[in-house]
Order: sequence, then structure tokens, then C-alpha cells
Amino acid sequence: MTRHAFITGVSSGLGHGLAEYLGQQQWSVHGCSRRDCDLPAVHHARCDLTDYSALPGALEGLIGDLPALDLVVLNAGVLGEIRDISSTPMADMKQVMEINVWANKAVLDWLHAWGRPIRQIVMISSGAAVLGNKGWGGYALSKSALNMLAKLYAHEFAGTHISALAPGIIDTAMMDHLCDEADADAFPALRRLREARGTEIMPGPLGAAEKIVSVLASLRERPSGEFVDIREILAPELFAQLHGR
Ligand SMILES: NC(=O)c1ccc[n+]([C@@H]2O[C@H](COP(=O)([O-])OP(=O)(O)OC[C@H]3O[C@@H](n4cnc5c(N)ncnc54)[C@H](OP(=O)(O)O)[C@@H]3O)[C@@H](O)[C@H]2O)c1
Repeated sequence: MTRHAFITGVSSGLGHGLAEYLGQQQWSVHGCSRRDCDLPAVHHARCDLTDYSALPGALEGLIGDLPALDLVVLNAGVLGEIRDISSTPMADMKQVMEINVWANKAVLDWLHAWGRPIRQIVMISSGAAVLGNKGWGGYALSKSALNMLAKLYAHEFAGTHISALAPGIIDTAMMDHLCDEADADAFPALRRLREARGTEIMPGPLGAAEKIVSVLASLRERPSGEFVDIREILAPELFAQLHGR
């Protein structure tokens, strides 16, 4: 039987990798993003997830007629600028929250009202949600709030398993900014990322997608709503190092 997945943010990076990998595994993949997705097999809708008046129509057109979804990955997200939080404009903080938190609430509300069976929802979080590294301001706050969103919606999605998953570091456009532009002297956590780039610690989008798909079943064995760092499952030593244990 065909397995259906819905992924947000499939035009680039991890979402694109997931769409490609699941397509290779014969899933039927539905995705959305503001830019087009270059994978011909993906059923795609162009939409801005923060345009809350247009979003329901876009979701209805894309997945409204499906009988059920086996997997939803709420992946779309932005990094914002790495800088001191004390000098970050309020408007920048709000913009990051809008896509990383509130757009996910809008999608979850639509899925909840849709009411058809959804086996598993994975909300893409980050280690930044708990690390509190200097410079990660709006992004860290947004992912921390996303983790709580997963916990709260777990109460209301009967029959659906939800997790907030930190996917580890991935070589995407988001990493271009972290590795090429932001100031590693002012923000020391950047050094670890720069050292990891080009090594197996930082896979590309397709490699990261394969890892995520490999842990889907083990996520479902944990309580719904939980935050899980993929390194806790696949690379416990690295995870301990990251958290200074
Ligand atoms: N890269 C890493 O090392 C890393 C680590 C931990 C967590 N993550 C998380 O992984 C997720 C994917 O990040 P990535 O690294 O793959 O970044 P990316 O290459 O910049 O991809 C972000 C995706 O989100 C979509 N998106 C952004 N704003 C949107 C909006 N308003 N409406 C619809 N789609 C929107 C983008 O599509 P359009 O621009 O076409 O709209 C794009 O497809 C994010 O949630 C990020 O926080 C990444």
C-alpha cells in the first residue's frame, strides 16, 4: 500500500533531502515551500507558511483528498542572524518565531481539523533548543518553543505520535551562513560547526534524511510529545560531548 508523507520546506536543504529519500523508498511525497521543488515526483504547492489566510486553501489542494498520512515532517525554518540577543531588533526575533513556531501551529491546527488518521508527526527542532549558546538568540528561543508545541499538541492528537527531533548538523544553505559569514571569535559555538563541515559528522541533506527515516520507529517507542536529539540515538558519544557530559 502507498505510504503518504507531507513535508514543509522541500525546496532546499533537509526537506529536499527527505522528499528525495522518501521518493526513492517509493513513498508518495507531498511538500510545500515558497520556491519550487525540483523533484518531479513530489506533489508540490508553492506557499508561504506564514500567510495564514492562504495556507488552508494550499493545504486543502495539496493533501485534503488523501485518506490518511503516514508521516508529517514540519521542517520549514529559518536561522535568523547570529548576534548578541541584547542588540537583536525585536522585529527580527518575531520574524524567526513566526516561521519556526507559529507557522507550525497553523499547519497543526489545519491537520487537527482535517481529522483523518496521521501516524507520525516529526517537528524538526535543533540542539540549539537546549544548548543556549551565545548568539543563537531568536533561533534558540523558537526551537525551545517548538519543543513545547510538540508536547502540548501531543495531548490533542489522539492516535498520532509526535516528536520534536534535533536532526544533528547538516550541510545546507543554513550552514553556509554559519560557516562563511558569522563571526567565530565572537560566537565560539561556530568553531565546532566549521571543524565538522566536510566530515561525516555533518552529512548532506540526503544523508541526514536517511538517518531521520532510520529512527522513525524508535521515536514512536518514546512518549508522544518528547524532544529527542538524533545523536542521542545514533551517536551517544558525540551527544555526551556536545552536552559536556
Ligand atoms: N542545517 C542544520 O545543520 C540544521 C540543524 C538543526 C536543525 N535544522 C533545522 O532543519 C530545518 C531545515 O533547515 P535547512 O538547514 O534545510 O535550511 P534551508 O536549506 O534554508 O531550508 C529551509 C526550508 O524551509 C523553507 N521555508 C522557510 N521559510 C518558509 C516559509 N515562510 N514558507 C514556506 N517554506 C519556508 C524553505 O523554502 P522556501 O525558502 O522556498 O520557502 C526551505 O525549503 C529547519 O527547521 C532548521 O531549523 C537544521
